[in-house]
Amino acid sequence: RSHVACLSSSKITLGREKQTETPLRSPVWSCNEWDPLEEIIVGRVEGAHVPPFTEEVQAITVKRNWDFFKYRGGQPYPAAHLAKAAAEIETFCNILEQEGVTVRRPAIVDHSIEYKTPDFRSTGMHAAMPRDILLVIGDEIIEAPMAWRSRFFEYRAYRPLIKEYFQKGARWTTAPKPQMSDELYDKNYPDENDPNRHKITDQAKFVTTEFEPCFDAADFMRAGRDIFAQRSQVTNYSGIEWLKRHLGDKYNIHCLSFENGNPMHIDATLFIIAPGVVLSNPERTCHQIDMFKKAGWTVVYPPYPVIPDSHPLWMSSKWLSMNVLMLDTKRVICDVDEIPTVKMFEKLGIKPITLSIRHANSLGGGFHCWTTDIRRRGKMESYL
Ligand code: NVA
Repeated sequence: RSHVACLSSSKITLGREKQTETPLRSPVWSCNEWDPLEEIIVGRVEGAHVPPFTEEVQAITVKRNWDFFKYRGGQPYPAAHLAKAAAEIETFCNILEQEGVTVRRPAIVDHSIEYKTPDFRSTGMHAAMPRDILLVIGDEIIEAPMAWRSRFFEYRAYRPLIKEYFQKGARWTTAPKPQMSDELYDKNYPDENDPNRHKITDQAKFVTTEFEPCFDAADFMRAGRDIFAQRSQVTNYSGIEWLKRHLGDKYNIHCLSFENGNPMHIDATLFIIAPGVVLSNPERTCHQIDMFKKAGWTVVYPPYPVIPDSHPLWMSSKWLSMNVLMLDTKRVICDVDEIPTVKMFEKLGIKPITLSIRHANSLGGGFHCWTTDIRRRGKMESYL
């Protein structure tokens, strides 16, 4: 059986009766993005719904997709497209199993149900991108609070798995749920197509305010005790501060910023593929890149994506090309059609295992987004 570096113990005292200390081996253990992968959650296509076109969604949406959201908000994504995406994700799961990785899936839940809290009402979205919501740090699963109203209840699809991992010894935390009242959002935020938009993010102005902490898990890139975060349209400074205090002094959360008019999820902007090797999006200059260089890291600028303009990407840029999944430092899952990226990995001595999830990409994520690590073999180390 594989090495799992985390041992915790449970000691339960019931009245006078003292139980003996039982060592629990947590089924959850992942410290970074590259250690040998043993178990993973892969998201689901089933039941995916288009989020209502609220200000936080509009802020990240290119104008050519506005009609799609306006007319389809609250409805399922086009069925024929979803069927293709589901077939791609099944293939993805089979490939992971063939590579020796245990694949787990979230529950099928009804995302069409309208919910109402004292502060807002919405319908749901999907359980397609576990990376957005679950942050695994060592033996702890942290459910991110999220920032979109359509994602408020997204954790429900993962609860059967999380409860199972908890019963087997994992630590489990839910970050404070935001109220998501109007104060969390800037109603007058300029849209994606504003030519001055990058100047606005340079001034640290985002569609989410600092009314209360919020973050998506995908705005954090893990390298052991060094965790890289970005203030984005869905992760605010108080959300980053919450995680910092929660994890404590043993971890360094480095807050990075990029030339990017539309930051949302760091894993198509900065991606660490091995100890001391980072992919840095050439279109989104990292203002702190010297920190990596000074520490002796290799900075690799990946090639531009080649996905055609005609392919619908309702929720993301084309940079899903660098949103890959490392199985270990010698094997990577990447897109079969992104030939320049495939060649880059070959040159780096990393074997690309390729397939296409283009229709699944349309929902907003690549291989990294569509998954979350549950267990990788390795130790919690410092890299900077
Ligand atoms: N929102 C970012 C990251 C997606 C994984 C982008 O569109 O590039």
